[in-house]
Amino acid sequence: MRREFGPGSFEAADLRAGRVDRHYEKVLTRLLSAHALAEKLTAAGYARAQGFTDDPALQHTITKNLGEERKHARLIYAVLEELGVSETRADRSLITALKAPSFAAPRHFAEAARDELDLVMASVSLDMTGLIMIGVNYKESSYAPHARAAEIILAEEEEHELFAAGELREAVDHFGAERVTRALHEWLPYAVNFFGPPGSGFTHDCIRYGLKVRDNAELAELYLSLLERRLAQAGLALPLLTPTYPHELA
Ligand SMILES: [Fe+2]
Ligand SMILES: [Fe+2]
Repeated sequence: MRREFGPGSFEAADLRAGRVDRHYEKVLTRLLSAHALAEKLTAAGYARAQGFTDDPALQHTITKNLGEERKHARLIYAVLEELGVSETRADRSLITALKAPSFAAPRHFAEAARDELDLVMASVSLDMTGLIMIGVNYKESSYAPHARAAEIILAEEEEHELFAAGELREAVDHFGAERVTRALHEWLPYAVNFFGPPGSGFTHDCIRYGLKVRDNAELAELYLSLLERRLAQAGLALPLLTPTYPHELA
């Protein structure tokens, strides 16, 4: 697939002046809306997780991550605002998408997570995946404001991913391999489906316009290989998944 526009090709002014195809703006707005909502739901999950622990060190990290996820959401909503799209309008455009498997991980964190183990799994499912989506796809965006926001978010997501990896190892000591594996079985399909369906028309447009670099399926592969390494460090094996989207436990 040929990429038409290189990293950082356009600013909001270029779109306003009509220098770019209208369809580009439509695809960009949808992508940004999904990114913003995922950050906002992740923040809501961290807010929920504040009640999960009395441990001051963990409490501190939850508060830090919460602040950063809120900032990520604000950054992306600000990029949308510059395109004339309000937060309300952006969220409303995703009412149907929100029910899809690709939103199950952030929704589960925001709406249903119950305990510290869920927090660990949410971090594994959202911070590790976010790191890949943002680092591989959005950092190179042809839309310069998204690329700049991604650069800022990325540094913090790297820390969140390390937190997730550390928590995963500790969880095995704390809760035992069997309970962690059970939680992983619950969360892993959510995490992998977060990347979205492979080969969709929407992703095709995103890649052609330089708004994404790789297809969802390639990112999901990258995630699984990163996760497999992190799990091995914690003495756990990667559960088997069904091969087609939406993935389930095999
Ligand atoms: Fe984030
Ligand atoms: Fe994060």
